[in-house]
Amino acid sequence: MTKPILINKVIKGFKKKINVSSDKSLSIRFAILASLANGRSKAYNLLKSEDVLSTLACLKKLGVKIKLNKKNCIIEGVGINGYNFKNHTTINAGNSGTAARLLCATLLKSPKKIKITGDKSLSKRDMKRIIDPLKNFGAKFYPKNKKTLPFYLWGSENIKAINYKELRGSAQCKSAVMLGALSAQGTTKLKCKPSRNHTELLFKYLKIPIKVKKKKNFDYIEVKGGKNFNSFNYRLPGDISSSAFFIVLTLLSEKSSILIKNINVNSSRTGIISILNLMGAKIKLKNKKIYKGEKISDIFVKSNQNLKAINCPTNLNSSAIDEFLIIFLVAAKAKGVSYFKRISELNQKESKRLEWGSKILNMIGIKTILTPNSIKIYGQPNLKLDKNYHIKNYLKDHRIFMMSTVAALTLGGNWKINDPDSINTSFPSFLNLVKNLGGKLN
Ligand code: S3P
Repeated sequence: MTKPILINKVIKGFKKKINVSSDKSLSIRFAILASLANGRSKAYNLLKSEDVLSTLACLKKLGVKIKLNKKNCIIEGVGINGYNFKNHTTINAGNSGTAARLLCATLLKSPKKIKITGDKSLSKRDMKRIIDPLKNFGAKFYPKNKKTLPFYLWGSENIKAINYKELRGSAQCKSAVMLGALSAQGTTKLKCKPSRNHTELLFKYLKIPIKVKKKKNFDYIEVKGGKNFNSFNYRLPGDISSSAFFIVLTLLSEKSSILIKNINVNSSRTGIISILNLMGAKIKLKNKKIYKGEKISDIFVKSNQNLKAINCPTNLNSSAIDEFLIIFLVAAKAKGVSYFKRISELNQKESKRLEWGSKILNMIGIKTILTPNSIKIYGQPNLKLDKNYHIKNYLKDHRIFMMSTVAALTLGGNWKINDPDSINTSFPSFLNLVKNLGGKLN
């Protein structure tokens, strides 16, 4: 427990260039794939946040040698199914759903029973979504019918390719099945609602046998199992999900602009830019390049007090899945009633984000209509706050903390926001960056 932060001043106009933390999804994928490669891999600029550190700690317990230096991270890969660990090993994924779900998929042939645990928030999250397909491959899970962590996983020698349908638009489920496919005999076939495609791009780059066909509503993916792959080096770009808070801080502040350098702008991640531009934001991508299949660019944003409501197209949901909380804050300042639908997945995150988003907006006087699957937000373009607001008991969900901080810095009022250490899961430098832009925090 760290002390709450207090904010009682709106941030003054700023014009700055910043770098945000490295991409979390890519950092975790680098670590896991490097551990499964043959030989020594090296990452530059790996995100050193708790979620990534939990992933590295799990891999170390699985017998992988890892050296985390100041400027790089070196991982000695052991090959597919090469993990070597003691009886009664427990791995703890901390707060990270990605780590827990993806690591389970690398253990399908494990000859020893292994216990997987996580923190309070992760232990509430649905694991059935990966247990079911991983059982289909041939792995066993105990206690039977348990849907949440902690549980035991016991692999089998006889892991066979599966056919799998992914209908939630979940990249974690898709990636778990793709990683499981590496241990399986035969070709695993997936039909997936589109979601972030970092695993596909890394598989292609690593020459793992993969075929991807994009059709109208689904991606069809085939992964052939059993082929080892070579180690690799990777330079991590910045995270658009971390940038999102600064995009909105700038948009809602007066006379401000920001250039956020070197961000992964893979189109399966840029829903927030499409949504905010539909609301009138005029966010620009500059200095575009391609790195190992991923699109990278700088993001330029200016203040904008003329935002309009959106009836958000549902085909953008997956590419903005981690950004809805902060998008809701923009909707609160936009002219008109915004409508976001088919977003029940938000209640499956580190906290029940759809419910929390609505609760925070109500707290600041914004009317919402909430269902388990949607929210309508009645925007107030002239919203200015002058009361006391206390954000607490939110399961230390990093994105609730950062959304509340942006609300406090742009809307006014006296804010007390508990658990600032929540940012360490994804974006440890968040508060320092806010201070560098001139934000007054106590
Ligand atoms: C992630 C996928 C998303 C996202 C999470 C990271 C990933 O989760 O919310 O923060 O790295 O694959 P789902 O797959 O559950 O949608």
